[in-house]
Amino acid sequence: MNKFWGSRFEGQTDSLADKFSYSISYDYRLAKYDCIGGIAHAKMLGKCQIISKKDADAIVSGLQKLLKQIEDGKFKYDPKAEDIHTNVQSELKKLIGAPADKLHTARSRNDLIVLDMKLYCRDELIALIKEITNIQKAAVKFAEKNKDVIIPAYTHLQAAQVVLLAHHMLAYVEMLERDKTRLQDALKRIDVNPLGSCALSGSSLPTDRAYVSKLLGFKETAANSIDAVSDRDFIVETLSGLAIFGMHSSRIAEDMIVWATSEFNFVDIDWSLCTGSSIMPHKKNPDIMELIRGESAKLYSNLMEILVLTKGLPLTYNRDLQLDKPPLFESIEKANDIGGLLTKLFGTLKVKKDVLSKRVQDESFFTVDVMEYLITKGVSYREAHDTVGLMVKNCLDKGISLTELNKKDLQKFSPNFDEDVKKLLKPETSVKIKQSLGSTRPAFVAQQIQKWKKRLK
Ligand code: ARG
Repeated sequence: MNKFWGSRFEGQTDSLADKFSYSISYDYRLAKYDCIGGIAHAKMLGKCQIISKKDADAIVSGLQKLLKQIEDGKFKYDPKAEDIHTNVQSELKKLIGAPADKLHTARSRNDLIVLDMKLYCRDELIALIKEITNIQKAAVKFAEKNKDVIIPAYTHLQAAQVVLLAHHMLAYVEMLERDKTRLQDALKRIDVNPLGSCALSGSSLPTDRAYVSKLLGFKETAANSIDAVSDRDFIVETLSGLAIFGMHSSRIAEDMIVWATSEFNFVDIDWSLCTGSSIMPHKKNPDIMELIRGESAKLYSNLMEILVLTKGLPLTYNRDLQLDKPPLFESIEKANDIGGLLTKLFGTLKVKKDVLSKRVQDESFFTVDVMEYLITKGVSYREAHDTVGLMVKNCLDKGISLTELNKKDLQKFSPNFDEDVKKLLKPETSVKIKQSLGSTRPAFVAQQIQKWKKRLK
């Protein structure tokens, strides 16, 4: 395999050094982008008369053939190639002969690799944003299907108050929406074309970089060739967005794991997302949720890897930067898998309505509502808190429920109580009386469902 840099070299490179330094085993994923970038570059070289129109046309049609081979799975990936640029270059030479030697005019692998990575990130982020939208759609659909279901909600993993299951689902939708906006934001900085910066200082040839930007759909052309070949911020930002998405996914997965335990028993995770035990025949384990929770570790460590990799590197290109690829590719691929699996989760999740409707009868869920009842009668928050606290303690000590207290019993705790306070001791009432914006009030939640349905279309 011919290297891009053969002639000046006085000896063969060490075979272990080759093995150690070759990136084709992972950067083969960039083949498509290497061709797309090459096509735009060759068109520009022809247009600016840096190479003949004939040579430019030959290069363009050769690269188009290679693109087709890549799409059809017929491209010859060469494990002996140093990297994907070398691989594409030599395949092109086989296809069109001499004109292929003119493609690398007025560019270098230093700007080319940034271009390939940006084109890759652009496609992948757009696809991932769609995948996250799919999770949101599935969560909203599930919320709507179960819009009347009330569940206990937790702080400190201690049962706290009741909410609509749909409200809880829409919390996931909000988290995922923020993930999408972070990725969209990363796309803005990806939208700057580095190609034509060459090794680091630009080219003495009369190139038209803006034309290449236009052909490749970049909004801007990098204004500083040194920065263009050094910049890997877009990878840090992408991995940071993916790490946060991983954190959210792990929290969703954890909720599902807890909800599916026999102790909670709120939901049934579909068999297609569970596994059995090799020894305990009764088990149905939520392995896929556990692995989603676990994979977030990888999404974090990949972010750390790129931050550590780039720290303290002198400008401009350093070969260390080659190692930005494995963590990026891995995180992108894992995030896509997680997205697909969460979409399946919400598409197939079953709610144990009868278990839940019994569980939410527990009167301790409504103590805040009783407190706010007293507040509406002019009692201070502090006094209301103490009163309800005493009342709950008294009932627990006596082993009776609040509903069993009559007007006289109630008024021993506060003269402001009337029998009507007992109407508050129902889950349906508890959600219905909420009126603060963003609360679990069914009418608000229904509005939010409609809003998301429209927005996610
Ligand atoms: N494989 C290299 C990378 O991923 C391509 C750029 C190589 N440039 C160089 N001057 N050796 O970073």
